[in-house]
Amino acid sequence: MTACDSQKSGDASMNKFIDKLMDRMTLEEKIGQLNLPSSGDITTGQARSNNIADKIRAGAVGGLFNIKGVEKIQEVQRIAVEESRLKIPLLFGMDVIHGYETVFPIPLGMAATWDMKAIEQSARIAAIEASADGICWTFSPMVDISRDPRWGRVSEGSGEDPFLGGEIAKAMVYGYQGKGDSAYREKTNIMACVKHYALYGAAEAGLDYNTTDMSRIRMFNEYMYPYQAAVDAGAGSVMSSFNEVDGIPATANKWLITDVLRKQWGFGGFVVTDYTGIMEMVNHGIGDMREVSARALSAGVDMDMVSEGYLSTLQQSLKEGKITEKEIDQACRRILEAKYKLGLFDNPYKYCDTERAKTDIYTDEHRSIARRISAESFVLLKNDKQTLPIKKKGKIAVVGPLANTSSNMPGTWSVAVNMEAPATLVEGLKEVAGDKVEIVYAKGSHLMSDAAYEERATLFGRTLYRDKEKRSDIQMLNEALNVAHGADVVVAALGESSEMSGESSSRTDLNIPDVQKTLLEELVKTGKPVVLVLFTGRPLTLTWEDKNVSAILNVWFGGTEAAYAIGDVLFGNVNPGGKLPVTFPQNVGQIPLFYNHKNTGRPLAEGGWFEKFRANYLDVTNEPLYPFGYGLSYAQFDYSDVRLSTDQIDRNGMLTASVTVTNNSECDGDEIVQLYIRDLVGSVTRPVKELKGFEKVTIRAGESKDISFKITPEMLKFYNSDIQFVNEVGEFEVMIGTNSRDVKKATFSLK
Ligand code: GLC
Repeated sequence: MTACDSQKSGDASMNKFIDKLMDRMTLEEKIGQLNLPSSGDITTGQARSNNIADKIRAGAVGGLFNIKGVEKIQEVQRIAVEESRLKIPLLFGMDVIHGYETVFPIPLGMAATWDMKAIEQSARIAAIEASADGICWTFSPMVDISRDPRWGRVSEGSGEDPFLGGEIAKAMVYGYQGKGDSAYREKTNIMACVKHYALYGAAEAGLDYNTTDMSRIRMFNEYMYPYQAAVDAGAGSVMSSFNEVDGIPATANKWLITDVLRKQWGFGGFVVTDYTGIMEMVNHGIGDMREVSARALSAGVDMDMVSEGYLSTLQQSLKEGKITEKEIDQACRRILEAKYKLGLFDNPYKYCDTERAKTDIYTDEHRSIARRISAESFVLLKNDKQTLPIKKKGKIAVVGPLANTSSNMPGTWSVAVNMEAPATLVEGLKEVAGDKVEIVYAKGSHLMSDAAYEERATLFGRTLYRDKEKRSDIQMLNEALNVAHGADVVVAALGESSEMSGESSSRTDLNIPDVQKTLLEELVKTGKPVVLVLFTGRPLTLTWEDKNVSAILNVWFGGTEAAYAIGDVLFGNVNPGGKLPVTFPQNVGQIPLFYNHKNTGRPLAEGGWFEKFRANYLDVTNEPLYPFGYGLSYAQFDYSDVRLSTDQIDRNGMLTASVTVTNNSECDGDEIVQLYIRDLVGSVTRPVKELKGFEKVTIRAGESKDISFKITPEMLKFYNSDIQFVNEVGEFEVMIGTNSRDVKKATFSLK
């Protein structure tokens, strides 16, 4: 029997089982499967669900989310399978988006590894731990492309590039679910939910939940691919986004959900709304609760997260002919199929193995892998006079409001983490440095001068203990300067708190907060070498820092093991190799600023400035501070010119583009070699370059490696003005380099 045959026979037995079950279900019970209340443990929106147990007994709940603890989940599942009429098991979901109790770097940091194996492994470990605690469904991967770092949720995604974002989306789906026919087979597999479909990252002005509006040609060439890649990888569910698309909220957008997602891409799973996504369409102004609920169902949305619009209005809408029983049956079937595929009908307690909760969560093995991957996510932005790595001797001052806090280390959306578990940076550095180094800590400043802003920037009690601070600003500053003057090197732990990014965390000013900046300026004035360890969930504006600070290591939020990983990199146990998945602008006025932009009719010569009547600003150049794909190493990598196997191919052809990369240093290192292609002439305007490949290689000190990329006509396709995915004959530029700016070029043609 072939895989396809077994798939068909599997489907046949699943369909038979579900047909029989649905024949026994009442209309209310079918609608009940479409209802997803929140458990109330962890709530991200205003609404909370109530009297859940009674609703479960009445068959009015299809699943729950954000319950932490296998015993609690086991008890709720028991109510469903022992006290309801048809004993249909529940789905249990959670936002496990960068780890469960072993937390990995925030997704933007994971993207900076460009390491698909590591990303898949992190999702695998997250699934092992979450499934050991009763969870069978995660609201991840988040794949929204974002080119606007004012938007706090850029921290949750893979940055600005659709190709990199698509590769990461696939890796995460495989990590959670397993691959192909083996998906969900293990009790350590959980169902993925790709989000937020679609275009949520294009919120105007970077204002969360704001309007998104773009041409179809921009949608399909620059934003949609990561969702499609996740669907192609077999994602079991999709979450519709809060925003509108073409003037219709995604959650009621039939073109988006039925025509594109289901008919064009062949998605066979179920669609769930985002938190109160249905109810919010009343605010969007497209109808009352009954109208918006009916429109969501007709658009193809199967499950209602928290609004209870389906539960409260669909029967009436059915009576009024606004929806059909077929639509209800279709949605119910998709939910039951998900439960069947997860094995919940065979064993409703498959994910309630209390022994596993004791042995599979936050293990030494998981933590050691997380520490390695955390170090891989860091991006070395500057390293003057080889300030780094720091020698393990003498006295090191560790200064800053982010140097001595545990709860701030994991990063946003660490919903299952034990807040006290992570080592503080001071603890981590002491551990790694060993007893030959004296490490002295001083807080130096608050997070920011505005206490109210700081309060807004903390969530779930992740304060930075401002209320416990008795010293004045000047006392804290003077203490820090005294410590710095007595040290050989200063490590400044500064930047954002973990909840200054993530949901509902848009910012208009992307500088390091005011009092921290003052502290940094004073530290630099001491004349000591200063290493800025930058905690951030997004690109920040760092022009002063880039000019005046000796070294800058962007550590994002590196997860539960971050403190040790930062020590590993600062003291040279690990050579940093991360590369930016998102552009760092010089200032906020340049935003949106991204590498794969169009040429325009009046382009400025690359690196030139200022030319009147050209596309450039009066006050700054067009260049970013740090470009997409940028990241330094303790090693020095040099690239040969690009070699092509041929300079022309036809539509059945293929060519190879190669470079030789040499490590001209005394330390081994990882380099992420990037391939970009430019379509020089098209029936529509094309970007000046697009990432089409990358390879992460380790090159030993003094050695060279040949890196080759296959270029095929398929890679040259794009969506034309008829939204057809085509390639066109003509000239192309191939670029290979260490980031999107510093590349070697060659040209070829497609005949
Ligand atoms: C939130 C987020 C979404 C998350 C959901 C459930 O508002 O938008 O990413 O998965 O609610 O917590």
